[in-house]
Amino acid sequence: MTILHINSSISGDNSASRAISRSILDRLTTADPAAQVIYRDLVADPLPHLTLAAFADTQVIDEFLAADTIVIGAPMYNFTLPTQLKAWLDRILIAGQTFRYTANGPEGLVGEKRVIIGLARGGIYDAGSPASSLEHLETYLRGVFGFIGITPEFVAADGLAISPEQREESVRQALGETVRIAA
Ligand SMILES: Cc1cc2nc3c(=O)[nH]c(=O)nc-3n(C[C@H](O)[C@H](O)[C@H](O)COP(=O)(O)O)c2cc1C
Repeated sequence: MTILHINSSISGDNSASRAISRSILDRLTTADPAAQVIYRDLVADPLPHLTLAAFADTQVIDEFLAADTIVIGAPMYNFTLPTQLKAWLDRILIAGQTFRYTANGPEGLVGEKRVIIGLARGGIYDAGSPASSLEHLETYLRGVFGFIGITPEFVAADGLAISPEQREESVRQALGETVRIAA
């Protein structure tokens, strides 16, 4: 199995999404010690904004297509994903390779891949909560991966900006939840 591990938080060692994605990765590699892991830190090594010329460089999409499982650490910034992660998505959402338009509408072309995303959000965006309409992180990632034919799995830590106690408890719960990923 080849695992592509991606992080996009600017918070380094204090990052909750990095801790969750690390825990997911650890569960997967414990279950399959022979797994090959490719790591991409989109903050330490950012991809430039998309340009037409960038389409000629296929390294990012080749890496994505070659992976069986993709583990992503995704923090919420300004109600959505970090621009670093968007720049990566810009390189894998490519007509003719990961999706195509047909007479019956768009069709995802990526099958048989697992995408597992560790989310970290400062607030709470559950359905029915006052801020729910501002949730453009999980909904966006679910939408774009669905568009290319993948149903992503999520492990989320929420309410991290509410209090230090809430943060500790939410991260603890999320790290515990990563057990089910390897089950
Ligand atoms: C620049 C910035 C913008 C943020 N914007 C939001 C936001 O719009 N909504 C929210 O719920 N939390 C927001 N937060 C809080 C983060 O989602 C929270 O700190 C989370 O832990 C970030 O993930 P990380 O710990 O992996 O960096 C923001 C944090 C930063 C640093």
